[in-house]
Amino acid sequence: MGSPGSNPRPLTDDRERVLGETDIVALIGDHVTLRPKGREYVGLCPFHNDHKPSMGVVPHKQIFHCFSCGSGGNALDFVIKYHGMSFIEALKYLAERAGIELTPRTRTQRNDNDFEDAGADREQIAAANAFALDFFRTILNHQQHGTTAREIVARRGIAVEMVESFKVGAAPDRWDGLLKTIEAKGLPLDGFVAAGLLKRRDNGDGFYDALRNRLIFPILDQAGRPIGFGGRKINEADEPKYLNSPETALFHKGSTLFALPQAWRAIQASRVAVITEGYTDAIACHQAGVANVVATLGTALTNKHATLLKRICDSVALLFDGDEAGVRAADRAFDVLFPVGIDAKVVVLPDELDPDELLKEENGAERFRDALARGVDLLEFRFLRLKERLEKAGHDVGSQARAKAIEEELRHLVDLGLNAMSPIRRQTVIRKLARIADLDEVTIAKSVPSGGPRPTAESREASAETAVQRGPSGALEHAMACVLAAPVLLENFPQESQDILQAAAYSSAPIGQLASALATLDGSAGTGMLINQLENSESRRLAASFVAEIDRVTEGNDERISNYFIDCVNRVRMERHRGDEVEMKLDPVATLSRKIEATREKHAKLGGNPLALPRPS
Ligand code: UTP
Ligand code: MN
Repeated sequence: MGSPGSNPRPLTDDRERVLGETDIVALIGDHVTLRPKGREYVGLCPFHNDHKPSMGVVPHKQIFHCFSCGSGGNALDFVIKYHGMSFIEALKYLAERAGIELTPRTRTQRNDNDFEDAGADREQIAAANAFALDFFRTILNHQQHGTTAREIVARRGIAVEMVESFKVGAAPDRWDGLLKTIEAKGLPLDGFVAAGLLKRRDNGDGFYDALRNRLIFPILDQAGRPIGFGGRKINEADEPKYLNSPETALFHKGSTLFALPQAWRAIQASRVAVITEGYTDAIACHQAGVANVVATLGTALTNKHATLLKRICDSVALLFDGDEAGVRAADRAFDVLFPVGIDAKVVVLPDELDPDELLKEENGAERFRDALARGVDLLEFRFLRLKERLEKAGHDVGSQARAKAIEEELRHLVDLGLNAMSPIRRQTVIRKLARIADLDEVTIAKSVPSGGPRPTAESREASAETAVQRGPSGALEHAMACVLAAPVLLENFPQESQDILQAAAYSSAPIGQLASALATLDGSAGTGMLINQLENSESRRLAASFVAEIDRVTEGNDERISNYFIDCVNRVRMERHRGDEVEMKLDPVATLSRKIEATREKHAKLGGNPLALPRPS
């Protein structure tokens, strides 16, 4: 084996090894519920608000593709998009899954931006977090420095298995515990500072530990890697009660749920997620055997949380305090859950206890499950408060104030996407509202403002992001798609396929780029491998959509692909023939100037408007 430096493309090798050892169906199946359909698997696309299964996973080509939002590519593309990872992070993630050791990289290789990797900062933070996680766990087990923390763990009744599963740790009661350990190892401090684990002294001279004398709850991402930490005070006199990592390139409170990796399977299996508000609440639930429980991180439930949950469940149970803040939190939750179509219920625990407290009481587990079962549907919960407002507005059913309150409610529901919902769901909402408002359903239905949500800044952004991305169009692109779907065409029809690829290479990017790349590839490769050799994620996405379309048209039958390919080639030739038959014989410069001349004439006839194009005669 040569040194990493002697191999110009260690990343390419690693990528191929990792992709070769990854089964895309198993990988995506761990994140999305897939069911077999013909030679493929289908599931709800996690990259847009999917209502029917639009995403196909093609095992023999090792690609995925969504017919609805156009996302697609290979296993690495999926991980990058799903987990928001950089290329290198995704490579490491898949390597770990497959038990592959990656080629060690030198600093220069890390910086030579071989692939789309903007993750240098993220990598440093990830490494710092991983180091700190080990440090905190070591401290918890430390004879001397972990004593108080262990006492607290014992007093709170956190089981050994939970300490293990949640990787609970402790920060020592000193200013430089982590700092000294880092220095002793000779590690650079940058990543720790960026992770918020070390802080610069006020006088600018040196650093100190951000987390001191605290019980540490690591915050893990869906892949189980530490992205932040929550530190609960040990000394009652300290403030605040919980000190959390700041937002970093890796850690966003608004898109993270505590206990998600531990709860993942249970949520996927039950299609229900229970959402609590505290670290210790989530842990206590898991300990009590209720494993489909996660916690927000001191923030309201966000749209990102909802999108994330939509991938693995159909409904959630929200555990809120029954107070004013709890009601507001329920309202906010409704606004994010209703649009993505997650059913929700509100659960209020007895005696104003939080789950952790309740579960420690006598028959706590039983009472907890009881309360869960008695949750109130969030829509009902919301309408009950509308009912209170209506009652305040007086008993005259037709009063102006009552009408206004109902119309406002409907307007709000339309803004949340009521009119885009399935007729069944929409009708259910209308029926419930009619009952609350003491009006008939027809009247309510007639009062629903037509049209969609009024656009907000956020929705405009989102729609720009998911602008539908097309599959192949026209004979040339379809022919090219055939080559991609069946690379053997490169061998069986070398003249035709090269011809097509060369012609397509003149298309604008990214079609042109894809064609150029294909023209240089090896026909004995499988489609999956062909796609993996494309170095641009946009080309891979496009390639997956092309292949999916050809698969759909030909059902993957080799003979039909060949026939379809020849059909397309003939159509391309005919089109070309019609247009250029005479001109082909002339020299290219003359051809070009004649074309320009002809275009000018046409424009002149159309009154000089360059945008008005003549219909083909
Ligand atoms: P709570 O104050 O309800 O604490 O905060 P808790 O979870 O019951 O904690 P214990 O049982 O007293 O140890 C609920 C959640 O709000 C966030 C944390 O995520 C906490 O779990 N929080 C609370 C903070 O981020 N900072 C704080 O200072 C307090
Ligand atoms: Mn608590």
